[in-house]
Amino acid sequence: TSPRLVVVGSLNVDSTSYVGHFPAPGETVESTGFAVALGGKGTNQAVAAHLAGVETELIARVGTDSSGDFALSTLAQLGVATNGIQRIADVTTGVAQITVAASGENTVIVTAGANGLLGPELGDAETAAIAAASLVLTQGEIPAATVEALAASAAAAGTRYVLNLAPPVAVAPAALAVCDPLVVNEHEARAVGLVPDAAADDSLSAEQWQQLAASAVAAGRCRSLVITLGSAGAVAADASGSWHRQAPRVTPVDTTGAGDCFTGTLAAFLAEGRSLAEATGLAAAAGALSVQARGTVGSYAPRAAVLAFAAEHALA
Ligand code: RIB
Ligand code: NA
Repeated sequence: TSPRLVVVGSLNVDSTSYVGHFPAPGETVESTGFAVALGGKGTNQAVAAHLAGVETELIARVGTDSSGDFALSTLAQLGVATNGIQRIADVTTGVAQITVAASGENTVIVTAGANGLLGPELGDAETAAIAAASLVLTQGEIPAATVEALAASAAAAGTRYVLNLAPPVAVAPAALAVCDPLVVNEHEARAVGLVPDAAADDSLSAEQWQQLAASAVAAGRCRSLVITLGSAGAVAADASGSWHRQAPRVTPVDTTGAGDCFTGTLAAFLAEGRSLAEATGLAAAAGALSVQARGTVGSYAPRAAVLAFAAEHALA
């Protein structure tokens, strides 16, 4: 049977306005486009993993509102199992208000809504799904207590546990210690204390990030670590070594959800048995493909396209 990946994470409905430049306080700008689409870091990562060809289940919480209906029907269209999504009355489905500027950069305001009610007490079917999984993936958009409980239960069961600490919420060091890998961007790496105080304000080269990743793993901060560096690609370290994988040079249209595409793809290829170095290269390829089109899940490429793009850029 194919490896099973369970994502326990957030689900949002994203309302995105495309603008020339971000409005300053008090300024009104006219958008050049608007879209409502499925998002949320957990959901985006589950869709990326599913597209990478690994059997994936998403455990999430939505409201009984029309956004919840929209989310479930969109996931069904994408072929992602929705039996792990519970609907909760009297709470809004998670919302993200996103603005994307012509530069491809974005700003995001998130209202957690039902995501905030994804507590550590999971249902029996959800617990069974996790027990049968070969890899469990979580992010920072659900309560920290849930992240910590899942890290502990995965470690106890010997299941590979991956955490994308986005946003960089406070999580107990014991939960970080079992991450294989912990996935962070440069900002999150600083927030979680991976950069020594002496270099706190410096901009670091990929080589420096690679060294920091290797020392964090050697110090037992986590079992393995991936730091994404935007257009500079990503560095990765585990007990066997450390690597830098370049991102293919592309012209970004919309970087929203590119980190999620990276993480979901990484987790999928790890679940499939690829090495951390290999999975990081494939994830960098998938992320680079995604920034070339608008939106999150709608811009994610299927497995064959990711493998072809990675081969073309010597990433796999
Ligand atoms: O990482 C991108 C995601 O962050 C968006 O889909 C939005 O929902 C926010 O949670
Ligand atoms: Na995109």
